[in-house]
Amino acid sequence: MQTKELAFGRGDFPEDFVFGAAASSYQIEGCRFGGCGLSHWDTFAATPGNTVRFEDGATACDHYHRWEEDLDLMRGANLDCYRFSISWARVLPEGRGAPNVAGLDFYDRLVDGMLERGLKPFATLYHWDLPVALADLGGWRNRDIAQWFADYADLAMKRLGDRVASAATINEPWCVSWLSHFHGEHAPGLRDIRATARAAHHVLLAHGRATEAMRALGMKNLGLVTNFEYAEPADGSPQAQKAARLYDGIYNRWFLSAVFQRSYPQDVLEGLLPHMPEGFEKDFDIIAAPVDWLGINYYTRKLITADGSGRFPGFKDVPGPLPKTQMGWEVYPEGLYHFIEWTHRNYTKGLPIYVTENGMASADRVSAGGVEDADRIAFLNQHLAQAKRALDQGVPLKGYIVWSLLDNYEWALGYEKRFGLVHVDFETLERTPKASWHAFADALRR
Ligand code: FCB
Repeated sequence: MQTKELAFGRGDFPEDFVFGAAASSYQIEGCRFGGCGLSHWDTFAATPGNTVRFEDGATACDHYHRWEEDLDLMRGANLDCYRFSISWARVLPEGRGAPNVAGLDFYDRLVDGMLERGLKPFATLYHWDLPVALADLGGWRNRDIAQWFADYADLAMKRLGDRVASAATINEPWCVSWLSHFHGEHAPGLRDIRATARAAHHVLLAHGRATEAMRALGMKNLGLVTNFEYAEPADGSPQAQKAARLYDGIYNRWFLSAVFQRSYPQDVLEGLLPHMPEGFEKDFDIIAAPVDWLGINYYTRKLITADGSGRFPGFKDVPGPLPKTQMGWEVYPEGLYHFIEWTHRNYTKGLPIYVTENGMASADRVSAGGVEDADRIAFLNQHLAQAKRALDQGVPLKGYIVWSLLDNYEWALGYEKRFGLVHVDFETLERTPKASWHAFADALRR
């Protein structure tokens, strides 16, 4: 039997619990119109070997022109909030200096459009589209980025801050630093430990400075969105255990520890210390600027073992036995419960927590009868059950936001990996709600 329904409805969650969908500027808007500046994703994608078929976000889902239809789709699914991101390069084509008025106007209309439809705007300031002019100056390796980012936050929120329901500074600092500067899989595509250490610190400093800037505007409900992977030793050997512990430190503990405990975890710092910017330990007062909530993005777990290199960090992941999504990611719903509970107990200690991303890519079956994605509905059911488990234990979980509203540009993997509740035909850009969209519409109807 195929799962067509969500096993949960509004009655299973507190009255003020919000359901939503997320997307990001570069992945859906299309950046070749409206005066948007180039971002390092454009140049990264233009470099052979970096993205599937050289695909980039030039047109993406053309959300820049079709945003009204997309907001109607959010509303039609009976969702409460839309987690969107603002493109730094659209608002400030040179990264600083003269703003692109058309860009600010676009987000102004978008936010008003959400409010008109009863959708709470959850804004994110940085979901990876760094203006190339700033990349030329070293991007996240340059300490000055904290000031550039705070200035951009001030500009964007002077315009939008009175109407957004919440604002996040950075999406996924691990991806901004490690995935992009160590693994080389995302822009700027570096593989350099010194660059990584600097990015991993400056991204936090920028978060802190932008938080201060938004506080100075009188804004409330400020947060940060971190991503997590459940790290398990691939086998019982002490080497695998040590490797998994370090993976957990780099991926899961580094950023939270800085923001909520004013220090970096010792096990990670042992390896990164030679590469850290001078005087980094003096920055924790800024990094630990109080936040009002934390966002958790969660997709999968990894089985970790030592890579035998003898070089920091010296781990690798190996294929696991669990069912996998179109991304090849293992489905491990218990990890979502783990991270919500663990974050609450060790770091946020009572602050509201939101699941800001969770979802799966699947090769959905399109037919005249609609778009069938029973596996996505099953995935959502399994993960919502884990979110509810945390909630039932008293963790202040305030919302669950699906990645993503639309099939979109999945970064280096191009347009092949489909995460949407709504199918997008990338030839015609036609949108077709999938079975999972209908399942939300039914489950959340008031
Ligand atoms: C997250 C990103 C998001 C999307 C999903 C699948 O890491 O925040 O943009 O790519 O993964």
